[in-house]
Amino acid sequence: MEFRRINGLPPYVFAAINERKAAARAAGRDVVDFGFGNPDLPSPDIAVEKLAEAARNPKNHRYSASRGIPHLRLAIASRYKRMFDVDLDPETEVVTTIGAKEGLSHLMWVLIDRGDTAIVPSPSYPIHIYAPLFAGGQIVTVPMLDPSTIANESPGDSFFEGLLEAWQRAWPKPRVIICSFPHNPTTACVDLAFMERLVAFAREHDVVVVHDFAYADLAFDGYTPPSILQVEGAKECCVELYTLTKSFSMAGWRVGFMVGNKEIVAALTKIKSYLDYGTFQPIQIASIVAMNEATEYPAQLNAIYQSRRDTLIDGLDRIGWPVVPPRGSMFVWAPIPEAYRDMTSLEFSTFLVDEADVATSPGVGFGDGGDGHVRFSLIENELRTQQAIRQMKRALTRLA
Ligand SMILES: Cc1ncc(COP(=O)(O)O)c(C=O)c1O
Repeated sequence: MEFRRINGLPPYVFAAINERKAAARAAGRDVVDFGFGNPDLPSPDIAVEKLAEAARNPKNHRYSASRGIPHLRLAIASRYKRMFDVDLDPETEVVTTIGAKEGLSHLMWVLIDRGDTAIVPSPSYPIHIYAPLFAGGQIVTVPMLDPSTIANESPGDSFFEGLLEAWQRAWPKPRVIICSFPHNPTTACVDLAFMERLVAFAREHDVVVVHDFAYADLAFDGYTPPSILQVEGAKECCVELYTLTKSFSMAGWRVGFMVGNKEIVAALTKIKSYLDYGTFQPIQIASIVAMNEATEYPAQLNAIYQSRRDTLIDGLDRIGWPVVPPRGSMFVWAPIPEAYRDMTSLEFSTFLVDEADVATSPGVGFGDGGDGHVRFSLIENELRTQQAIRQMKRALTRLA
């Protein structure tokens, strides 16, 4: 049978590693798995209890509101006020999504059509590349360099230079810029000054900025990631996706939001009203409780990720694989060690799973710009991370 839209999709690179991982496990080997950015830490107890309670009430079993119940939209507006001092009107500037991924995908349906283009970093979280393509458009890529390779320059500056260049050569002029900081997979982080430049550029060129803020709460060593909406005038042309997936370790619950420009919020709300009936209401109710009452939870999770990061970075350093510690996200973006540069990221990742029983994501899975790296997700605890280091030390015999 011939299908539409999926024909051009390349084979899922991560599937190759998943198969090797499954084979190793079937053979009784203990694979330490840094592959998938799927949080292992529990959701807040208070949210789980509220979910159970709300699920027992038959009133909550009916279809809910596609754009999110009013108190949930109010809770995200309050969170933005507390975190960023950003005022949001819960009626017009907030829409609930079924996770950031769903929000971004359907957002492209209202922003992009055949013949339109979107600017997307390379490498990128895969849906940033595919959502504009699924909507019928095309992408123009801008390199997102490994922050550790950019001497004397911030990742934001080099991305911005690439953006200016891409803008010059692109025709028709892109309608959308997709970006996401702290960035998955490169862990690049930016400051508010970068956001100000980006907003000024977007206002001048009449282009929409979609900022995926999935790692809003995952930042280390005192760094606080800025919201694009902190920039004055950002609501003229920008929207931001925020999600409970990483901040509250609620990945399976599928609760996210899009906030910002009223017209864009209304457009997404409209298309979603045709597509879905909203997240199960008990989940929405429990999400309100998470945001309003588990306010310390993101910081607690963050401390755990930071400790795991330190264990991994210290361990890699000890075995002769130095990597610059990330300032944010839940990843370590590791350049393939010099002695193994003859391998592609897929070959190196395959080698690690076969020979060291350590699963990582090959950089090429995030687009061509990701080759030369593997990504570790910080989803294994310190003990397991130390075990992985020992296994890699044994397998990586070419390291000094
Ligand atoms: C940049 C980015 N956006 C979105 C998501 C997914 O968010 P959600 O679970 O809210 O769909 C991820 C998950 O890894 C991500 O890295």
